[in-house]
Amino acid sequence: MASRAEPPGQRSAGISYQALIAQDRVPPPAPLTWENPLDVPTVRVPVLRYTSREYYDREIRELWPRVWQMACREEEIPQTGDYHLYELGPYSIIIVRTHDGIRAHHNVCRHRGRKLCDFATGHAASFICPFHGFSWNIDGSLRTITSEWDFPHIDRQNFGLTPVRAELWGGWVFINMDMNAEPLADFMGDLPRHFDFWPPEERYVEAHVGKVMKANWKLVQEAFMEAFHVITTHPQILDGIGDENSQYDAWDNFSRAITPNGTPSPHLKRQPTEQELFDSVTMRALDDPPNPEVPDGMTARAMLSAGARAGLQKILGTDAVIADAEVSDSIYYTLFPNFHPWGGYNRIVYRFRPWDNRHDRCLMECYYLSPFAGDRPAPAPLRLLDEDTPWTEAPELGLLAKVFTQDTFNLPQVQAGLEAAQYQEVVLARYQETKIRHFHHLLSQWLPD
Ligand code: FES
Ligand SMILES: [Fe+2]
Repeated sequence: MASRAEPPGQRSAGISYQALIAQDRVPPPAPLTWENPLDVPTVRVPVLRYTSREYYDREIRELWPRVWQMACREEEIPQTGDYHLYELGPYSIIIVRTHDGIRAHHNVCRHRGRKLCDFATGHAASFICPFHGFSWNIDGSLRTITSEWDFPHIDRQNFGLTPVRAELWGGWVFINMDMNAEPLADFMGDLPRHFDFWPPEERYVEAHVGKVMKANWKLVQEAFMEAFHVITTHPQILDGIGDENSQYDAWDNFSRAITPNGTPSPHLKRQPTEQELFDSVTMRALDDPPNPEVPDGMTARAMLSAGARAGLQKILGTDAVIADAEVSDSIYYTLFPNFHPWGGYNRIVYRFRPWDNRHDRCLMECYYLSPFAGDRPAPAPLRLLDEDTPWTEAPELGLLAKVFTQDTFNLPQVQAGLEAAQYQEVVLARYQETKIRHFHHLLSQWLPD
């Protein structure tokens, strides 16, 4: 697909991430010291991957029915009989808690094909088809056939709901429509080791917001896989973000970026004061009370970390060791193809998938996965924003709603630009667009040219 991404080893002139965290007051846990630069040739991506209905249809046939994908949280189906629908393109899958663990089935009646469940979440003692009333137990086995005397040709043992694989990690339920797929644990590789310090199963869904976007699902997720866009998309935060100092790595089926905060952008022509660094990161609105002063001898990064650490220790206990990097930096993983859990104590998890079975629409979802003390709070239900409703209509996102508005402002125009493009390939930065290169390298293996 492209020439090699040479020369290797070139990085921004700014301080490296590893040199930065070596100066932190509370040192980082091991995963933040790991590095694994990507070594694959992909630096160009065919435009058709974003604009072609035919390519979209290939993804529907060859990628989605075979790959592990996050479907919901375990906490969203706490009681036996609770179910959740996961829908993507033409596919509709019921994830249900049974007496015997979490199971998944295609949401399709075996009689004449009506969808069994119409609602995104619910509770069922059994699944009863609204058309002629055939029913199935929640484990997928056949329960009743209407006018059974008229169906002597049905073998009851072979008339269960079409099964889907369901496996768990970190409080997330993953599904795979391919019954012969490798186990989820094999697919994830070392990713769970990275999260040993931040177990997602010990967090709850504090917020869950989805928004329909007028762009291909890959195009939208790629806007959240690099800090390269910060200089132009979020210029207001340049004082306090080491955008060009970000570290990018990839392992097997997942990749990671780490963008340091509380350190100035190498793009700046001047050195901001520690106070300017602090104010930039806190993104105080004009009518908010003034920020505290950064004392002499204190860095903004240390002060930001100390404040965040103190807040978290109220929940996690005062003996919890919380590194500066874990509360300051943006540590964003991507598990192929579309699951983006953030590391450290940042709450964000993204998922992107096609919407309305169209190549030029997608659903972007943001979960806030937060630590809690005592009983697990009930998970927030999904707030779904249509394509014309701004992120700021979801107040539970807080300051991030404004950032998302900046992030997503360009994307319909990128889709439109690519639809208009008279060239064949987009071109990627060798280092700062590592995660996107890694994604397309894997996608090329799933959908060979
Ligand atoms: S289509 Fe479901 S019972 Fe007939
Ligand atoms: Fe952004």
